[in-house]
Amino acid sequence: MTQGPQTFPGRFPNTRLRRNRRSPWARALVSENALSAADLIWPVFVREGDNVREPVESMPGVRRLSVDQVVEAAREARDLGIPAIALFPNTPEHLKTPDGVEATNDGNLVCRAIAALKAEVDGIGVMVDVALDPFTTHGHDGVMSGEEILNDETLDILCRQALVQAQAGCDIISPSDMMDGRIGAIRRTLDDNGFTNVSIMAYAAKYASGFYGPFRDAVGSSGNLIGDKRTYQMDPANSDEALREVTFDLDEGADMVMVKPGMPYLDVASRVKTTFGVPTFAYQVSGEYAMIEGACRNGWLDREKVWPEAMLCFKRAGCDGILTYAAVEMAKKLKT
Ligand code: PBG
Repeated sequence: MTQGPQTFPGRFPNTRLRRNRRSPWARALVSENALSAADLIWPVFVREGDNVREPVESMPGVRRLSVDQVVEAAREARDLGIPAIALFPNTPEHLKTPDGVEATNDGNLVCRAIAALKAEVDGIGVMVDVALDPFTTHGHDGVMSGEEILNDETLDILCRQALVQAQAGCDIISPSDMMDGRIGAIRRTLDDNGFTNVSIMAYAAKYASGFYGPFRDAVGSSGNLIGDKRTYQMDPANSDEALREVTFDLDEGADMVMVKPGMPYLDVASRVKTTFGVPTFAYQVSGEYAMIEGACRNGWLDREKVWPEAMLCFKRAGCDGILTYAAVEMAKKLKT
C-alpha cells in the first residue's frame, strides 16, 4: 500500500507537487494505476432468435443478442484482449414459473449460449449467473411462500442450475442471488459431479440497489417484480456486513468475490481488497452505465473523458477487475 503523508513529510516551497504534473512524460512516470483490457469482464444479454441485435432502451448502445450474435461478440471481445464474458438470458415469458425451474433445464437459452461459445470461440472465459430471477414469474431470486423468499429450498434449485451450466461448459459460476449458504452448496454440487475446475465468483456483497433498474428491463424481469429484494440483498447503509458476507463466501469456497453496484460502493470494494487480499471485482451496473452513457449522448458529459475516468476509480480502489457494459468500447480505446 502507498505510504501516507505522515511517513514522508514534504513542505512547500521545497516540495512543489505540481512539478510531477508539468508534462505528459512526467505524469506518465508517476502514474499509479492503469486500465488494461485484461481487467474487463463484459456482461452480455442473450435472447432467442437468429441474427437478432435488439436495442435495450434504457441502456443506449447495449443490445440483446441471439446466440449466433453472442458468438460473434465473444470473438470480438477475445480479439480485444477481454478475458471473460458474462451471459444474462432474457427468458421468454411463457417459460417463467413461480419456482423458476427453467433455470435447471439443460437446453435452456443460457446453456445453449454457453455450449455455442465453448464450441466456437477459444481463449475467452464464460461466466454465468446462478440466480432464479430471470426465470421466475415474480422476478425474485428465490422461491416464495406467501411473501417470504425461502432460503434453503432455493439452494436446491440453485445447485441444479449451477450443474447444468457447468455441464454446458461454463468456466465461472457466479451466484448472484444472496441466499445464505449458496456458495458452499454450489461448490459441493460441482465437486461431487466432477467439476472441481469450475470457478466461483461470488456476488459476495450485493446491495438492494435502485441502480439495477435498466438490467431488469434488459432481462425482462422488471414488470414481474413484486415488492423489492431487501430481505436478501444488502442494506446500502452497511459496510461491516459486507466483510462478513465475504468471509462466509471465501470460507465456503469462492475463488473470487465481487462488490455490486460499483461506483456508489467503492469504499466497500476497497475494504474488501485490503482486508482479504483476494481477487476482488466490482460490477459497474446497468444504472451506472445508463447515467454515464445517457449524459454523454445528451452532450452533457464528454465520453472521451468520463468513461476512462470511471474505469480508473475501480483500479484505485484496488479492484482486480471490472464488470462493465462499456468493456468493448474501453478495450478499443486502449488499443488506439
Ligand atoms: C440477478 C442479477 C441482477 C443484476 C445482475 N444479476 C439484478 C438483480 O439482482 O435484481 C444486476 C446487474 C445490473 O444492473 O447491471 N440476480
